[in-house]
Amino acid sequence: MTRVGVIGVGTVGRAVVDILKKNQSIISARAGETISVKSGVVRDLSKLPDLSISLSQNPYDVVDDPEIDIVVELMGGVELPFEIVKKALQNGKAVVTANKALLAYHRYELQEIAGDIPFEFEASVAGGIPIINALRDGLSANHILSIMGIMNGTCNFMLTKMMNEGAAYESVLAEAQALGYAEADPTFDVGGFDAAHKLLILASIAYGIDAKPEEILIEGIEGITPEDIAFAKEFGYTIKLLGIAKRDGGEVELRVHAALVDEDAMIAKIDGVMNGISVVGDRVGETLYYGPGAGGDATASAVVANIIDIVRSGKRSPMLGFNHPLEEGLRLKDQNDIRSKYYLRLQVLDKPGILAQITSLFAHHFISIEAVIQRPSETECAHLLFATHEATERSVHALISELETLESVLETPYMIRIV
Ligand code: NAP
Ligand code: HSE
Repeated sequence: MTRVGVIGVGTVGRAVVDILKKNQSIISARAGETISVKSGVVRDLSKLPDLSISLSQNPYDVVDDPEIDIVVELMGGVELPFEIVKKALQNGKAVVTANKALLAYHRYELQEIAGDIPFEFEASVAGGIPIINALRDGLSANHILSIMGIMNGTCNFMLTKMMNEGAAYESVLAEAQALGYAEADPTFDVGGFDAAHKLLILASIAYGIDAKPEEILIEGIEGITPEDIAFAKEFGYTIKLLGIAKRDGGEVELRVHAALVDEDAMIAKIDGVMNGISVVGDRVGETLYYGPGAGGDATASAVVANIIDIVRSGKRSPMLGFNHPLEEGLRLKDQNDIRSKYYLRLQVLDKPGILAQITSLFAHHFISIEAVIQRPSETECAHLLFATHEATERSVHALISELETLESVLETPYMIRIV
């Protein structure tokens, strides 16, 4: 049994406690043993009446507890968490954090102190997207030529609503705060600092660069006005806050700023709280990572993944299901039961009554038609194009088999699933 202490049981910390409890059986299967939260730390004990873990207001109650194996730091800030994480590592405890501000300033010192003790921070960049894992492991054969993308969910949420709905800056910021996306001090988000912290972490993994936020170009979105948005729309752009790391010969440029992006570019289509990051490697070419960049559950998903990874490290972990079967009673679905919408193209004789004959077969197989078009084809022939509502593979294949037997249907019907 591995015991976890959570320092900071706020938006992310609560979700971590919840995931470890509700997904306990699959997590144990993957980790190879049970993981439970022993205790947590908050400032205000009265805020969390319904949490079934013991709580204190002193982070050292967790850090110095000999029964705790993994310390999860989710309180935010820089200097206090630095002292706490340092002490936890010195006490020999593995540490998982989502705190990018901490890492932007102290990542190398903490790595040094950690030595062989696990010190993981997947959730610190792009919330639920496993971008650190991808960069550190999946792309480790490459020189990284560039990293570019949307790294702050709050700003992307705000800009999307400002562009698409004409939302006012202040109200949409308040909405992002209410949804748990924003930092405790949201000027970190809108000022571009949070994206910069993340960019520095990625740049360290990709290039080993030990820069501090003060050394790189950082601009936020506070200056964007409705005039800028109107201009962008008129000239076919959208506005995004981008983090960019680019290798240029013997130098690496690092910058965070708002940018006008062609509305047809892939990155322009990443909306709301979603983050999207492109990483170009010299051998692999361009790779893309997309997913929720903020929010309790998405971020906690990455925190818990780090915890599982620490617990199973050193153990044999087969790729094909860590413990077979992973979930009781889980089985392969019969292909015939798969449900989808369908497009069907039929070449038919163009005669009275044919359409009625064909649609009656749809009804016979309980397949509801969403749309139908007839297009003239060769002489006395027509193409019938159908879109259906959801149906099963079983019923659609039965329909097609029956259609094939009709003299009025001149070719094997052609089917494409609508996804
Ligand atoms: P949050 O909702 O403000 O929660 C912070 C928690 O830490 C609260 O339980 C707070 O207690 C506690 N805390 C703060 N200072 C403390 C102190 N001095 N002593 C004891 N407890 C203290 O923050 P969050 O959104 O969960 O974010 C936590 C961390 O995850 C931050 O580093 C953030 O940058 C990072 N992160 C957040 C997200 C996200 O989407 N929210 C995504 C990725 C990473 P009280 O509530 O009693 O004050
Ligand atoms: N405030 C951050 C954001 C949280 O909006 O992206 C995720 O790191």
